[in-house]
Amino acid sequence: MDFMELVRTRRSIRRYTNTPVPEDLVAQVLEAGRLAPSRANSQPWHFLVVRDATVKRELYSAVYHQQLVLDAPVLIAVLGVIDPRPSVPARTLELVQAGAFGMDVKDFADHVLDNWNPADLKTDAALNSAIAGAYMTLAAHALGLGCCWVKLCQDDEVLRILEVPNGYYHAGLLAIGWPDESPASRPRLPLAEIVHHERF
Ligand SMILES: Cc1cc2nc3c(=O)[nH]c(=O)nc-3n(C[C@H](O)[C@H](O)[C@H](O)COP(=O)(O)O)c2cc1C
Repeated sequence: MDFMELVRTRRSIRRYTNTPVPEDLVAQVLEAGRLAPSRANSQPWHFLVVRDATVKRELYSAVYHQQLVLDAPVLIAVLGVIDPRPSVPARTLELVQAGAFGMDVKDFADHVLDNWNPADLKTDAALNSAIAGAYMTLAAHALGLGCCWVKLCQDDEVLRILEVPNGYYHAGLLAIGWPDESPASRPRLPLAEIVHHERF
């Protein structure tokens, strides 16, 4: 499938067959997340795989009883690292050594790091981890798996149930399984309504 075909045919899949999802396919989905781009290549994310029925049952309460969380053979919680600053200098240096950044960009990045508004950190964690999640969603579809983001939830509860330490942002649960539905495409706004040229 070419890329646009992949994007066009992806749907949020909420019903799954009972067929188990092999570990190597889950690994490929995770690999797609690992390879996603991030600010200064900070890779500020962790992925937590849930297969256990007891854990799912607890999560079910935290997602306002959305059935797909019980039914999906696999859930992947996408977690953003809220303060990746300790690792950013090393990551940025790697980019300089690889020729992607000049030293002036590194100096600027270091300056930004020193002056980063803590309120922006969570936004950045959300931004970066959501990109990784989007990659995983497409990877699941490419493998023939069905996937749906679940973010209508009590984030604090999800983090507590999954015993995630402080300092992580819950970007969403990805519910994954073999599709047992083939929904029609959901409507999208026309490009004419959302695309601008040169200036807004
Ligand atoms: C950040 C995010 C959160 C979402 N949360 C939920 C959710 O909690 N439950 C659900 O059933 N679908 C959820 N979805 C799926 C959307 O409803 C779905 O992407 C949208 O309706 C478009 O349909 P499509 O993905 O099939 O194109 C979420 C999607 C995103 C990107």
